[in-house]
Amino acid sequence: MSENTEKKTEKKVRPESMARITTREQAEAFIEEEVEKARKKIGSGNVLLALSGGVDSSVVAALLIRAVGKQLTCIHVNHGLMRKGESDQVIEVFRNQLGANLIYIDATDRFLDKLAGVADPETKRKVIGEEFIRVFEEEAGKLSDIGFLAQGTIYPDILESDGIKAHHNVGGLPEEVKLELVEPLEFLFKDEVRVVGKALGLPDFMVYRQPFPGPGLGVRCPGAITRDRLEAVRESDAILREEFEKAGLAGKVWQYFTVVPDFKSTGIKDSRRSFEWPAIIRAVNTRDAMTATIERVDWDLLEKISSRITKEVPGINRVLYDLTSKPTGTIEYE
Ligand code: XMP
Repeated sequence: MSENTEKKTEKKVRPESMARITTREQAEAFIEEEVEKARKKIGSGNVLLALSGGVDSSVVAALLIRAVGKQLTCIHVNHGLMRKGESDQVIEVFRNQLGANLIYIDATDRFLDKLAGVADPETKRKVIGEEFIRVFEEEAGKLSDIGFLAQGTIYPDILESDGIKAHHNVGGLPEEVKLELVEPLEFLFKDEVRVVGKALGLPDFMVYRQPFPGPGLGVRCPGAITRDRLEAVRESDAILREEFEKAGLAGKVWQYFTVVPDFKSTGIKDSRRSFEWPAIIRAVNTRDAMTATIERVDWDLLEKISSRITKEVPGINRVLYDLTSKPTGTIEYE
């Protein structure tokens, strides 16, 4: 949702006087200033935010909860392509701990029905992007007196409006949604957003989480998504993440996940012939996502993960380890 309701004729520029935020004190000063600005701008109005649970939208949510409390309505759309437990975490942190006005929409069936039989990667992205906007608009339409739309735009989104995020993310809200934008993080770099998130009291798993694509697990279930293969992606990813965390690799390896491709091979399970999918492990490091190198994951750890995935995840009888850097492989499979 980087493109939006206000037509920007020229790119905004971070004020030269703005020091890089690295300390808690600087983050607190930033928060105080932005809380004041948001209160002044929003007044007694109401503001809407699409809260995915990603770092940027989570930090905006926490900041605006502090600024205007229940005048902020967060909408979390679960498109059925979230990682295991992710939507529950959003509800727990924002509704239960921070007291946010949070609307939770489980739109899993809607998305998966729309995606049934859609195999082309860009068409999948388009379907997901468009359906997201439709669900969001329908929910927004049920609310009255919304004058503002908050967004987690950060400075690299402005600098690289032709860069990786803009390239990947289809959509944005349509022109006719006339809401005034509230973008308190627009001049921050990612590392600064994390410092601010930490100062706002967000949990580490939210502030330091690895990047996760908008179309979610959908691009890790190559070709036409089926519910059973999607579950195999979700469960194998959860095991991989759990084992990386236990091994102290979370936050050290830039991005790691599993992919379950749409082919089957023969194996043996419980002394019987099996014919099931493989799960592919991808673990990479990068600075800017334009190039990436593979993480040399410890062999014992890989064997442990392989053993757990083949034992615990229905439909998987093999685990493969992707040794491809970017280029030639992209980080995701679609
Ligand atoms: P690739 O696969 O192009 O990915 O090497 C580079 C980075 O971009 C993320 N990515 C996406 N992010 N929407 C997103 O928000 C997308 O459609 C998308 N596709 C890839 C990917 O996870 C990696 O961090």
